[in-house]
Amino acid sequence: MRGTRMNIERKKNKSAGKTLPLNSDEDLIKIREYCRSLAVQMEFSTDNCTMISTALYEICRNVIDHAGKGTVTIKVVGSKKPCLFITVKDQGPGIKDVQKALEEGFSSRGGLGIGLPGAKRFMDMFEIRTARDEGTTIRMCKYLDKD
Ligand SMILES: Nc1ncnc2c1ncn2[C@@H]1O[C@H](COP(=O)(O)OP(=O)(O)OP(=O)(O)O)[C@@H](O)[C@H]1O
Ligand SMILES: [Mg+2]
Repeated sequence: MRGTRMNIERKKNKSAGKTLPLNSDEDLIKIREYCRSLAVQMEFSTDNCTMISTALYEICRNVIDHAGKGTVTIKVVGSKKPCLFITVKDQGPGIKDVQKALEEGFSSRGGLGIGLPGAKRFMDMFEIRTARDEGTTIRMCKYLDKD
């Protein structure tokens, strides 16, 4: 009984990928390194490895800058057509106007306003879910076969 439960948990963990806390700049650097090494292991091109880790960095940067803290889940999905799938979650103030936030040059804090639109451009799938005072979840992925 115990063995069965443990096996199920192991399987669950495998498909769930790795979830890492994002509470500081240090965490951000560790997460970027982990993501880059996974992308290299998957044999993405050097350019794509850079695009993936830059997108991840910008989205994580936003969590630290605009929400304070969050979590990042990174996993490899699919075997025939694998992709690197990243979910970044926070429980901050939410993004007030998503359309505006995705415009290049929009920043609510006097930044350059290029993080969010840049990350979207670098990935194959990019989805934002956000609610005022509940937080923001960004899901994004990059397919290997587009290399
Ligand atoms: N996780 C988040 N929580 C709340 N607001 C966010 C979050 N991520 C982005 N935003 C909002 O979207 C805007 C645009 O984000 P974007 O990353 O493009 O620019 P920025 O962070 O202001 O500046 P930078 O160019 O330095 O990244 C932010 O100014 C902020 O208002
Ligand atoms: Mg930003």
